[in-house]
Amino acid sequence: MMKTWWKEAVIYQIYPRSFMDSNGDGIGDLKGITSKLDYLKYLGIDVIWLSPVYQSPNDDNGYDISDYQSIMDEFGTMEDFNEMLKEAHERGIRIVMDLVVNHTSDEHKWFMESRKSKENAYRDYYIWREGKEDGMPPNNWGACFGGSAWEYDEESEMYYLHMFSKKQPDLNWENPKVRQEVFDMMTWWCDKGIDGFRMDVISMISKTKEMPDGEVNGLYGNPGPYCVNGPKVHDYLQEMNEKVLSKYDIMTVGETPGVTTDLAKQYAGEDTHELNMVFQFEHVENDGKYGKWTDEKVSLVNLKKIMSRWQVELYGKAWNSLFWDNHDQPRAVSRFGDDRPQYRDVSAKMLATCLHMMQGSPYIYQGEELGMTNYPFRKMEDFRDIESIHAYEEWCKGGLVSHELFWPCLVGKSRDNARTPVQWDDTENAGFTIGTPWIGVNPNYKEINAKAETADMGSVFHYYKKLIALRKQNPVIVYGKYELLLEDSEDLFVYTRALDEEKLLVVCSFSDKEVTFRIPDEFIGSGCIISNRENTYEGEMVELKPYEAFVLHKK
Ligand code: GLC
Ligand code: CA
Repeated sequence: MMKTWWKEAVIYQIYPRSFMDSNGDGIGDLKGITSKLDYLKYLGIDVIWLSPVYQSPNDDNGYDISDYQSIMDEFGTMEDFNEMLKEAHERGIRIVMDLVVNHTSDEHKWFMESRKSKENAYRDYYIWREGKEDGMPPNNWGACFGGSAWEYDEESEMYYLHMFSKKQPDLNWENPKVRQEVFDMMTWWCDKGIDGFRMDVISMISKTKEMPDGEVNGLYGNPGPYCVNGPKVHDYLQEMNEKVLSKYDIMTVGETPGVTTDLAKQYAGEDTHELNMVFQFEHVENDGKYGKWTDEKVSLVNLKKIMSRWQVELYGKAWNSLFWDNHDQPRAVSRFGDDRPQYRDVSAKMLATCLHMMQGSPYIYQGEELGMTNYPFRKMEDFRDIESIHAYEEWCKGGLVSHELFWPCLVGKSRDNARTPVQWDDTENAGFTIGTPWIGVNPNYKEINAKAETADMGSVFHYYKKLIALRKQNPVIVYGKYELLLEDSEDLFVYTRALDEEKLLVVCSFSDKEVTFRIPDEFIGSGCIISNRENTYEGEMVELKPYEAFVLHKK
């Protein structure tokens, strides 16, 4: 297996709007990020994935870009960006940019031109279709944020496709001019010295020519089979690789909804010349009752099956990202752990152990290293996220499901859970801003905050710091071969990693009860390199306390 820096790296995701506000307008910004680089350096991460900071009308918080080569006014200026990049590099931290090129904002100059007329030079930059004879949209596809995926444009009396909001028209990748514009823009950023790209919904850039109705779930049809992993996506990525990526020593990660392990071997194969790694969602998709909305917990047996399949099938062939949460997912400790006060700390550490000992590049989402939790939403006005707001409109107000049934699903899965401000200290607004924050601060910031945790050697923060350091010291964590043990256990996630003579045993309890575990013979007497409880692991039997996790290292 090829050894590379990005396989050995730990990545930290910043959602700038909620990270740190430097000027009191209640919105996080670039200067705020620069002011916290020492904190990140102390944590030990190698790479920052920066969610979009480009000019945007913020229909979807920056994932709707109106100018790829300038910085969002609320976040600062290009000088602030250059300063942040320089300061990061001086600390040995790389910066990976979010590349959102499945769609632009409808306020991007390409789209403003495109919608002017059928003859406009930019018309073919987007996907336009005639409506049906009765004037209805070309097909029944629903957009990810609710409503039809087609928006009627009065001016030219045609519909344009938008997989997300109507302010996010999809680019037409069939058009070589569009591809060249994107490649030129990427080159411009690379020449500026950035260290890579996280590519937003990159598995969706190629659509089938035929656009038939999709299978109905709720009010609309599912465009997935015609828009995800489409016929030319690999051609486009190989072209991008040849024209841009291969020329720089950068890291590339594709956000690839709908990817299978087989497809991942193509997207992120060791020698397929597309991307370095995929970011896939199988383990966080317990598609439930109402589209993505559900209040069901994933079963541990199922979770193990999915995660292990990715570990085994990609081994030596392709590379995966490791994550429990990001800006689109609820908080890890609330979802997969246990955020009740007596278990929050220990279950957050257990989850971290379980993930960071696997093969792949681990991603820490801002605040995860503090064990930040979901937000106690009480009313619709607490939400800011377009997806959550539209979902409530469509499912509840639309009469498909009652408020009582839908509310817990929304509260548990809303993306806003991840978007509340990072809790820096116990002063007002958690030290995030001296103004009014754009979204509510989680009221638990007096107990859960960076100031308290950096001062406490037993905190979740210091546990993450230790896991990161261990990865640097032990190549077996990066390159070792994975094997799952006790696959049917409903309480324990146990696996081994092996590299040459070295072997790790990773034991994680997902239970709030005590569980007995028998240490496999070959590990008896091996040293413990990390544990989230006070316990000894020298004998044959271990009585695991709730959410206990430990790692033994056999040399
Ligand atoms: C990706 C982003 C998400 C965004 C969507 C549309 O899934 O992670 O935040 O809303 O793409 O750009
Ligand atoms: Ca600000």
